[in-house]
Amino acid sequence: LAGLAPEDILTRMTLDEKIGQLHMVSADAVITGPSGPPGGLRDLDQGRIGSVLNVWGDAAAGLQRKAVEQTRLGLPLLFCLDVVHGFRTVFPIPLAEAASFSDGIWRETAAAAAREAAEAGVALTFAPMADVSRDPRWGRICEGGGEDPLVNARMAQAKIAGFQGDDLRDEARLAATVKHFAAYGAGVGGREYDSADVSDYAMAADYLPPFRAAVAAGVAALMPAFLDIAGAPMTANRALLTDVLRKTWGFGGVTITDYNAVAELIAHGAAEDGLAAATLAFNAGNDVDMVSGLYHRHLAEAAALGLVALADIDAAALRVLRLKQALGLFENPWRVCPPATPVQVASRREAARRAARESLTLLRDPQGALPLPRQLARLAVIGALATSAADMRGAWAETGDVEAIVTIADGVRAAWPQADVAVCGDDPQEAAAAARAAGVAILCLGETAAMSGEAAARANPVLPDGQQALLDAVLATGARVIVLLACGRPLVAPQLFVADCAVLVIWGLGSEAGRAIADVLSGDASPSGRLPVSWPRAIGQIPVFYARRPTGRPHEAGARYSNGYADLPIAPQFPFGHGLGYATFSWSDLQVSAMDRAGATSPLTISLAVRHETGAGGWPQDGRTAAIETVFLFARVRVPGRTRPLLLLRDFTRVALRPGETRRVSFEVSRDWLTREGLAPAPAAVSFLEIIVAASAEPEVDPARCLRRVLVAQKGAEHG
Ligand code: IFM
Repeated sequence: LAGLAPEDILTRMTLDEKIGQLHMVSADAVITGPSGPPGGLRDLDQGRIGSVLNVWGDAAAGLQRKAVEQTRLGLPLLFCLDVVHGFRTVFPIPLAEAASFSDGIWRETAAAAAREAAEAGVALTFAPMADVSRDPRWGRICEGGGEDPLVNARMAQAKIAGFQGDDLRDEARLAATVKHFAAYGAGVGGREYDSADVSDYAMAADYLPPFRAAVAAGVAALMPAFLDIAGAPMTANRALLTDVLRKTWGFGGVTITDYNAVAELIAHGAAEDGLAAATLAFNAGNDVDMVSGLYHRHLAEAAALGLVALADIDAAALRVLRLKQALGLFENPWRVCPPATPVQVASRREAARRAARESLTLLRDPQGALPLPRQLARLAVIGALATSAADMRGAWAETGDVEAIVTIADGVRAAWPQADVAVCGDDPQEAAAAARAAGVAILCLGETAAMSGEAAARANPVLPDGQQALLDAVLATGARVIVLLACGRPLVAPQLFVADCAVLVIWGLGSEAGRAIADVLSGDASPSGRLPVSWPRAIGQIPVFYARRPTGRPHEAGARYSNGYADLPIAPQFPFGHGLGYATFSWSDLQVSAMDRAGATSPLTISLAVRHETGAGGWPQDGRTAAIETVFLFARVRVPGRTRPLLLLRDFTRVALRPGETRRVSFEVSRDWLTREGLAPAPAAVSFLEIIVAASAEPEVDPARCLRRVLVAQKGAEHG
């Protein structure tokens, strides 16, 4: 087949072989038992399987040999796996990496993960997830970029660039699949596999933009969500899967259903039987059926009955063939990247450490407990998570090499080699004794890895049982307490946030967790993570997010006839963008290139000076180490006849500065982009437009790191 165009290959294929390209099976369908299940192998021999899920390494090579050498046409299989944040080396969970606000880190870790998985023969990953999520009850909030559409869009683009590179033929790359199209993060009550009623406005403003960005970035594949939107299951949603995705956005890649989602159309009540489900899913625009087997069983029959068009089967099979061709599988079916050299392995670990370090988010440190002195003689490291390698992986990293994970206890021991480091578990009495004896306690609280991820919704996203008692016991000793909070979502823990302790969010940091945490605890690096999600004070505040729209009433807590709660402030515990560091920065000299001379879509330059102020005696001790500052550019827009969000994130960037250093940071944005929401057209008239550069979505909290300029004060009046 090498050298033949996919169109030519298609002309040689039978209908069954074409449908075979649309049939994805899972590992157990083809490799269980000594010779595998008879149906699975027969289908493989007959060229009726196109792709395989969850198989890699020698098992994949064996199946590929059968496909290439023993089938009529010798079409290669496509091996697919959820390489979400690593394969053997584990990088931080995506929500953690989102906190780095670094396109570079997002791209670098995806590239490293792609290479490692490609060394095992994987060719396609089911990542990135680009679902905006404002509901910490949802277990999968850990897999995406958090609450903001722009952050999810930028992260999806960077991940796609990292996974795919410039050319999929490169054996070190993977085809990426953006998922779960669309609005999967909006599921009712934060429940998995649920439904949502999403307005056209919310779709255009919030949920679709990251997918549009992924398509623009050339993503190879797309997966629809399990949920139904306003009564239309996404697996059967032709309006989005065909009209928007293919016709409006021009997506030419492959669509792959979620696991068994075609069959689940029957349980949804949308299809009577297998034939109807296959017909519905296929006609909606799904090319590949992941494991339900209903295309395999019914698509030919549906074609014979005139329910699906043969031309559409051809088009879907052709898209799969083109993807295989793009991956170079026709010339090189054993597409396995050569093993990494020791230098490459070391740089992969270094990337994991840097990403983990820059994802760490310091929520509070009321007593200035951090960084810890290098000369400490004693330290207590408390909590079961301190020694758990598996839990440092976070969700969706089952292939990760547990043996190679640096635990928190290991990281602390290595950073304080001279200190007496006492490590103990979750027993409050034992923990209190260790904290009292050491005087400094690193207390590891939060979720295990299994508490986040798919089908891990929590109605009560709070500290797990027993942890408040552990915290109380340790605090009662009077020791200096640093809480390391592991989580795949913001955890509602109001008592933790008034206690006399520092709180460093460690998310699910991956293979280099222990070293990265020690880097920050010891002051080798300043924490620089910023929250990609608003952190709720109470479960009743959910969904809480910064882009609220102003109401007709104020929202003072307890005020009668106001928009707020009677019993709580409306503001989150910590806003989007919040995150402390050891250095002090000041911002000044906001400049905006003249608006009135720029066309609506031509770039406008917004710049400011950022200075690292820390003087002698402050951090860093060496006087040289750089600290990272993150600058968010928000717009506040008023449009006649509409209510617009209080703030819209328009851009963000980071700058690393040594003490005393000043640098100009600049953004290029068009007026169109400043005033538009997501995919909606820019408004014709704007009565007010202000730009705000700030350190978080509560700009007024830190006036030294907030600058603003009104660009339009009334209709038609524009200020440069
Ligand atoms: O890719 C995943 C998806 O996100 C959830 N269901 C299973 C798929 C394949 O593992």
